[in-house]
Amino acid sequence: MIQVVIFDLDGVLVDTAKYHFICWQRLASSLGISIDEEFNQELKGVSRMDSLDMILALGGIEKTDEEKLELADTKNKWYLRCLNELSSEDLLEGVEETLLELKSREFKIGLGSASQSGEYVIKKLGIYDLFDAVVDGNGFQKSKPDPEVFLTGAQKLGVAPAECAVLEDAPSGILAAIAGGMLAIGVGSEPLPGEDHHLNDLSNPLSLIALL
Ligand code: BG6
Ligand code: MG
Repeated sequence: MIQVVIFDLDGVLVDTAKYHFICWQRLASSLGISIDEEFNQELKGVSRMDSLDMILALGGIEKTDEEKLELADTKNKWYLRCLNELSSEDLLEGVEETLLELKSREFKIGLGSASQSGEYVIKKLGIYDLFDAVVDGNGFQKSKPDPEVFLTGAQKLGVAPAECAVLEDAPSGILAAIAGGMLAIGVGSEPLPGEDHHLNDLSNPLSLIALL
């Protein structure tokens, strides 16, 4: 029986995925590399350094570790600037209602995000207090599709993986949920490979409840 719902952040609770893409595109272009929406699908859910490695590999460019840190830092500075004005108005449709509905039915709520700004973002969105456990990019090592992020969340909440459902917009996140032995619910306009269920968005909290 599902007791915990773990939410990915970027692209599920808030449309920050577009800012990650714009900033990676800008960085890639400064290196003479062009990245499109299709390639960006592969970057979703992937950590900052792993994303940079994938972009450099695409362009066949090698950099030292020091140069890579500098590039990743530049991308992050641009990204943080995009977050400046973020507020509860940026929550995707139905997110707050969904979190409140889950609370009222005594489900526990977790965050499972690869972003090192994960906690900062949910604070800016005004929903931090609704989470029982927060795992962001500072709290685990291995990037999705490794299940570590979600297993860490389950452990923090004291439940077995089979008692967790994961909501994800990224192929890597669905793979991570499956690898962790959790119910994998894809969110977004397109179905994701391997998902157990699909929701176009969170606009109807009861559609989610029906899957749990
Ligand atoms: C994920 C995003 O949530 O976080 C990725 O889907 C992003 O696009 C990753 O690269 C890491 O984010 P950050 O904020 O730590 O650079
Ligand atoms: Mg995402």
